[in-house]
Amino acid sequence: MSHRSRNWLQLLTSVAVLLLAELTVTRSTAQKIVVTNDDGWAVAQIRLEYEQLQAAGYDATVSAPAENGSGSGSLSVPALPLLFEPCEYNSCPIGSPAEGFNASNPRLNYINALPVDAARYGIQTLAPQFFNGAAPDLVVSGPNVGANLGIQVEFSGTIGAACEAVKDGVPSVAFSGADGSTAEESWMNIYTAPSSRTIVNATSYAQLTATFLAALFTQPPSTPTLLPSGVILNVNFPAVSPTCSRKDVQWVLTRVYPTLFFHDVVVCNNGGKLPEESSVIATGCFATVSIVDADTKLDADANAQGDVLERLVKLGFVCA
Ligand SMILES: *[C@@H]1O[C@H](CO)[C@@H](O)[C@H](O)[C@H]1NC(C)=O
Ligand SMILES: *[C@@H]1O[C@H](CO)[C@@H](O)[C@H](O)[C@H]1NC(C)=O
Ligand SMILES: *[C@@H]1O[C@H](CO)[C@@H](O)[C@H](O)[C@H]1NC(C)=O
Repeated sequence: MSHRSRNWLQLLTSVAVLLLAELTVTRSTAQKIVVTNDDGWAVAQIRLEYEQLQAAGYDATVSAPAENGSGSGSLSVPALPLLFEPCEYNSCPIGSPAEGFNASNPRLNYINALPVDAARYGIQTLAPQFFNGAAPDLVVSGPNVGANLGIQVEFSGTIGAACEAVKDGVPSVAFSGADGSTAEESWMNIYTAPSSRTIVNATSYAQLTATFLAALFTQPPSTPTLLPSGVILNVNFPAVSPTCSRKDVQWVLTRVYPTLFFHDVVVCNNGGKLPEESSVIATGCFATVSIVDADTKLDADANAQGDVLERLVKLGFVCA
């Protein structure tokens, strides 16, 4: 080998070593996220969310129900093999085991049980496997197909899964998007109908989620934990349209239920009463953020609200 090519080889080797070191560092410092939902592991929304998180540099793993588990709240069932029907949209055949994954991407996992069980499976079984024994930093639940506002919070599997995560010791945020057409939910549409309304809108929701997480993960350094203990956040995105694109969306701190009392965090000259999420989302291009007690699923107190307001300062909350 000539001198010249040996030098080149050395240079290339050093560059490769440096690149590898860089990769390893990024890998080990990336935030670890379990993604779950209630609509099932094969809806386009959760696949797009996973891809968005990976693209944004997070270390993500999907753990979601094999079938649509909407409306199951905090119910839990034993995981069973798929003896009588395939996974939703034929995403796994009849006879598949109770837990399985996508053959070409083992980070896409299903469990044939309810959303709460999927969250627990992700935290207790998959996270140690994919995150080198470490616990996840966050469970992202959703974005749900359809909004979760007011009394819907009580029955939503998206919320149920997020509350379960908090009970298992992992902070969690539930996301829901107003738009989604059930005819177009299969993940296959990402490939076969990429410009369909559902896919385009679901992509916007995945991007809004990334915007939210960027603010959550860069909160002021005086906050040692990601979120106050014992609460989840219920985030709802508006219907997106040409006049309300993801870039137009503004964030508002809200409450889930109406109240006669004035005990909320004082902000926006509200006299101690936050606006309800369902009325805010109806009035404009707003995404709502409500703070919900993970045990009772009722609005959390003013301390928790104020705490979240400070942590999410980068989001740039506006007054509705
Ligand atoms: C799941 O079921 C709920 C209610 O049963 C329905 O509203 C929703 O559209 C379904 N989701 C999908 C992806 O089919
Ligand atoms: C598995 O993942 C690959 C690549 O991500 C995709 O092409 C395929 O359709 C997926 N299949 C199922 C059942 O999820
Ligand atoms: C997204 O959904 C809205 C309805 O909520 C619809 O008006 C809009 O056209 C959809 N966007 C696209 C790009 O299809």
